[in-house]
Amino acid sequence: MKIDYSVVTRRTFLNALLGGWLASFAFGSFYALYRFAFPTLGKEPDFVVLKPEDFFSIPVNSTKAFAWGGKVGLFFRTADNRMVALKGVCSHMECNIVYKPERQRFYCPCHKGWFDANGRNVEGPPPKPLEFFDYRVEGGKLIVHKKGVKVELPKA
Ligand code: FES
Repeated sequence: MKIDYSVVTRRTFLNALLGGWLASFAFGSFYALYRFAFPTLGKEPDFVVLKPEDFFSIPVNSTKAFAWGGKVGLFFRTADNRMVALKGVCSHMECNIVYKPERQRFYCPCHKGWFDANGRNVEGPPPKPLEFFDYRVEGGKLIVHKKGVKVELPKA
């Protein structure tokens, strides 16, 4: 059976094909340039190096933020005067958390998630505890690193 006419003409079909190909090419090129310009964006470091004097003087039951790649890290002096370092993002969908000293808990405002001072998820949707880091002071530098990562700084 022969069709007398078509809703899509040959010209429309070829234009759509060419347009799709150009859009894919432009997106691919833009993405490649973007990854070239910002190669570490969205990636997390294995460690960061900080100044100890900026963090060891924080008051009891408080936190101080530091940059953990593109995310937030927190130094936390607990109510019983222990210093810990942790990733300052929620284990649910990675919103930034805040410490509520009056409740001695971390709060995620995105979906009302709560973590206790030990990082355990105690209320709301977070499926697992917060991620804690290890840290050490070496050569006057505060090295904060992921657990299990061995950090060797170059000798000056
Ligand atoms: S992102 Fe924190 S509770 Fe959903």
